Amino acid sequence: MTAPYAGTPFDLTGKVALVTGGSRGLGARIGLGLARAGADIVVASRDLDSCRHQAERITAETGRAALPYGVHVGHWAELPGLVDAAYERFGRIDVLVNNAGMSPVYDTLESVSEELFDKVIGVNLKGPFRLSALVGARMAAGAGGSIVNVSSGVGVRPRAGVLPYAAAKAGLNNLTVGLAHTYGPSVRCNAVVCGTFLTDVSRHWDPEAFAARAATFALRRGGQPEEIVGTVLYLASAASSFTTGALITVDGGQP
Ligand SMILES: NC(=O)c1ccc[n+]([C@@H]2O[C@H](COP(=O)([O-])OP(=O)(O)OC[C@H]3O[C@@H](n4cnc5c(N)ncnc54)[C@H](OP(=O)(O)O)[C@@H]3O)[C@@H](O)[C@H]2O)c1
Repeated sequence: MTAPYAGTPFDLTGKVALVTGGSRGLGARIGLGLARAGADIVVASRDLDSCRHQAERITAETGRAALPYGVHVGHWAELPGLVDAAYERFGRIDVLVNNAGMSPVYDTLESVSEELFDKVIGVNLKGPFRLSALVGARMAAGAGGSIVNVSSGVGVRPRAGVLPYAAAKAGLNNLTVGLAHTYGPSVRCNAVVCGTFLTDVSRHWDPEAFAARAATFALRRGGQPEEIVGTVLYLASAASSFTTGALITVDGGQP
């Protein structure tokens, strides 16, 4: 297989990247993109079969090794097992991509249950916190590394209808800056503040309402999943060696 970034600061040859939510959507594209740049990949999500399928695809398309792992990132006690499995298989983690997330719809704010609220905070904030602590400490004690948090524009500009999710992503943005200070200088931590990407979640949207919203974007459309890869690869690699604690917006120019 060719190494398209060999000899450039984007090269990840010999590196290992752990991608949560790596089985589908943005995470699947991120895993493939980092593998194309030379990294071996840990593909983590709840559904182990989907992770296995995606890991096989990564190896078939890039020649890189890929470890599938079933885990619920909102379950604190499951996370050490994920990190240990990655170190047992590869001996290192150089890049952690906290990508797993969910933003369930609800009718009214009063109808949001404690269970739903806790789940949204658990997957979007608690999981990235715990994983970053487990991996960041080992990175800092070893060869260093890069943590990339996949956040959302609503964490900066909340909209009605997604408030627990928006609050969780705002927390993730805050955590991004704090992690950069905690594990720097050898570990960098940045966030990609995503606008609207056309993944599985977009199947639940009203097409007319989305078209009306997209007409207000500078690029007049939602993003294709592969359009997040360049930014994550930049943040994961030495190409961004003086960038940490940054929130980088990738949203096609959403107002
Ligand atoms: N798409 C957008 O427009 C958009 C906009 C802003 C931000 N984002 C953010 O981008 C990230 C990826 O979104 P996406 O659109 O790619 O979502 P997606 O297509 O729904 O995929 C979500 C991924 O996360 C995994 N996942 C969900 N809950 C999990 C859990 N509790 N534990 C472990 N893995 C879990 C899923 O696999 P399993 O079902 O197997 O667990 C899947 O691999 C999220 O953090 C999301 O908030 C997306």
